[in-house]
Amino acid sequence: MTTPASVDDYRSAARCRLSRLAFDYLEGGAEDGLTLKRNRDAWGAWCFRPRVMTDVSECSTATTLFGRTAAAPMVVGPTGLNGLFWPHADELLAQAAAAAGLPFALSTASTSLLEDVRAAAPHGDLWLQLYVQQNRAIAEDMMRRASDAGFSTLMLTVDTPVHGNRDHDVRNGFKLPLRLSGRLVADCVRHPGWTWQMVRHGSPQLKNLARSVGERANLNRHAAMLSRQMDLTLGWRDLDWIRRHWRGPVIVKGIQTVDDARLAREHGADGIVVSNHGGRQLDGAFAPLELLPMVIDAMMDEVGDALAVFIDGGVRRGAHVAKAIALGASGVLLGRAPLYGVAARGLHGASHVLEILLKELRTTQQLLGCVQVAQLGRHCVEFAGTIVRD
Ligand SMILES: Cc1cc2nc3c(=O)[nH]c(=O)nc-3n(C[C@H](O)[C@H](O)[C@H](O)COP(=O)(O)O)c2cc1C
Repeated sequence: MTTPASVDDYRSAARCRLSRLAFDYLEGGAEDGLTLKRNRDAWGAWCFRPRVMTDVSECSTATTLFGRTAAAPMVVGPTGLNGLFWPHADELLAQAAAAAGLPFALSTASTSLLEDVRAAAPHGDLWLQLYVQQNRAIAEDMMRRASDAGFSTLMLTVDTPVHGNRDHDVRNGFKLPLRLSGRLVADCVRHPGWTWQMVRHGSPQLKNLARSVGERANLNRHAAMLSRQMDLTLGWRDLDWIRRHWRGPVIVKGIQTVDDARLAREHGADGIVVSNHGGRQLDGAFAPLELLPMVIDAMMDEVGDALAVFIDGGVRRGAHVAKAIALGASGVLLGRAPLYGVAARGLHGASHVLEILLKELRTTQQLLGCVQVAQLGRHCVEFAGTIVRD
């Protein structure tokens, strides 16, 4: 394999290594993939307006997120079932993030215990992403465990009351616990490296959820079942309940309208993520980048910078991070990008993807004449009028 130079190079490597079942789960969007494509295309609609002849010899990508310094306005975002891509992938992603100086958000649907993730990244800034199941005691226990393990920030995901329709997962017969079918066996034969790892380490399980469900027979099967039983009654008033169980900052992930951004703030959220879950939930939704200026303008008018606004969806380049920050975001979440790295080459791949993105962001800032993240602003970008398609 030649040296990967970009996130997309890692995507190609991950595609070769992973079984079809695993790659489709990582990559796929809901239904016709309209929003998945829109998320990526939206970045091309904004062009840079660089300033030259400024001294760019000293340049920093560092920023402050909820009072802590981060090496860049990037967070390794929450993704479930990471063990499907590489054994102990949650630990490896947390380690890579900590080494790069970035926060890591662990999914409720992680395949490693949050206590093991803390042990792997003892000094990392760890965030917990929360899904709320019908049995609220599970979420309460997970928040307690995360708090005990020194996780700093809670991210409540609100765009997943039910799972989006993902045709590729239906076709591949993808469901936890994994069941061996003729199709999966053929898939495994075509991807021996991935298969050998799965055989040696066992198929991934929702360990974190299982631990919070409590002791009982057939715990992993039970946890898999519970993961599909979201609390459909969840509403804004429940942020008070979260607040009673979590002392640190609370971020609401999955906001797509100004009205919901306002409600999140009114109910005490410290931050929001403008996100459509990487195009995996409601197909036909706008790209988060298309919504960002509107949300930022309204929130700045109403609450100033009291609400941190993050964005995710299709971030594959440091230049994308720079555009998001120029449009007023506090930071971006990386979804698939670090997964490509870990799926292709484990810890080394995850670290290299973060290194590539940090380097690209730094270069972009220097070429724009913005040697501090705080200098990135609306004057740096202009809407090019059409959505560029690749
Ligand atoms: C394989 C995969 C699993 C995901 N699992 C979760 C999850 O457990 N919780 C969550 O809040 N978001 C989850 N997401 C959504 C990501 O946090 C993020 O919103 C999205 O991936 C951003 O888009 P991008 O992948 O194009 O960067 C998942 C995304 C992927 C690709």
